[in-house]
Amino acid sequence: MKIVDLRSDTVTKPTPKMLEAMTRAEVGDDGLGEDPTVNRLEEMAAERMDKEDGLFCASGTMANLIAVMTHTRPGDGVICDENAHIHKLTMGGTTAIAGVTLYTLMTNHIGKLSLKEIEDTINLNARYPRSKLLVVENTNNLAGGTILTPEETGALFSLARRYGLKFHLDGARIFNAAIALGVEPKRLTRDCDTVMFCLSKGLSCPIGSILTGPSDFIKEARRFRKMLGGVMRQVGVVAACGIVALQEMVDRLTEDHQKARRLAEGLENIRKGMVRLETVHTNIVCFEFSSPTMNCMQLVDKLGKKGVLALHIEGTKCRMVTHKEVSFEDIDYALGVAEGVLKGVR
Ligand SMILES: Cc1ncc(COP(=O)(O)O)c(C=O)c1O
Repeated sequence: MKIVDLRSDTVTKPTPKMLEAMTRAEVGDDGLGEDPTVNRLEEMAAERMDKEDGLFCASGTMANLIAVMTHTRPGDGVICDENAHIHKLTMGGTTAIAGVTLYTLMTNHIGKLSLKEIEDTINLNARYPRSKLLVVENTNNLAGGTILTPEETGALFSLARRYGLKFHLDGARIFNAAIALGVEPKRLTRDCDTVMFCLSKGLSCPIGSILTGPSDFIKEARRFRKMLGGVMRQVGVVAACGIVALQEMVDRLTEDHQKARRLAEGLENIRKGMVRLETVHTNIVCFEFSSPTMNCMQLVDKLGKKGVLALHIEGTKCRMVTHKEVSFEDIDYALGVAEGVLKGVR
């Protein structure tokens, strides 16, 4: 059976160039700071994000957690979106391990937080957890891969600064945002104290995310990475893929965005009101489904049995993500399957 895997861009496989780079990578003990390939990747990443230094981490989850641990002390308050990865998708790690209180806010339908609501949530009163950090995603995963512009990022930064908060950008898919806006990633990251981005998503690396920020921050972050067991020793074999990704895999993301648009418009044509097209900015298509005869999980199950893999998020919400392993033909095939499954469904 033909499989079109639209669950996530994390299913992307390393390219032949990445595999070749892995076999040639010069390595050393990264725990001692002696892996030349990791050091090069960290430098490249920091440069791309307009930061002084970078820290190669096993995952985006770990890199975000290290950022929170480095910016805060247990008992501090962190403000983020109700649907933020650090809140919804870390198995409680942010609160359990960093020991912070998360103050979560709803975004509007295109994933934007209200400056006024953030301001109203900031608490510097001694009787409450002290607001220390604002965390924002770009792109916003569960809002549908929506984008924050440089101006919006700047406004969030100014607000955070006004109250003495640090601003961490969860830029798991920051290159998608930059490509969609046609700007250098720097434009989206220079107004953030720290930035995390993932190599393991649309950029197709098998593993890896990088935390970037000021040198003294990264020095401290290294201690927390060690605390979490995140020192990976001769990990240049993996970092080598990251170097190829930064050199060669960014520009092609445009194609993923075009596929997502085709998918979104196709789904919306099949069933009106299923996709809010205004949320489809990059490679993620979130859609709502409910019917008296089939729930969202059953829809995902039926599609899956016909080889089209989607992800049930929660309730009536599902997600499909485009990436380099799916072609435009695969998108049309998936739409054909969806049409068949939804035919006659009220
Ligand atoms: C916005 C966002 N942040 C962080 C992560 C975590 O990355 P990882 O899967 O590498 O832990 C993800 C993963 O999907 C994500 O979408």
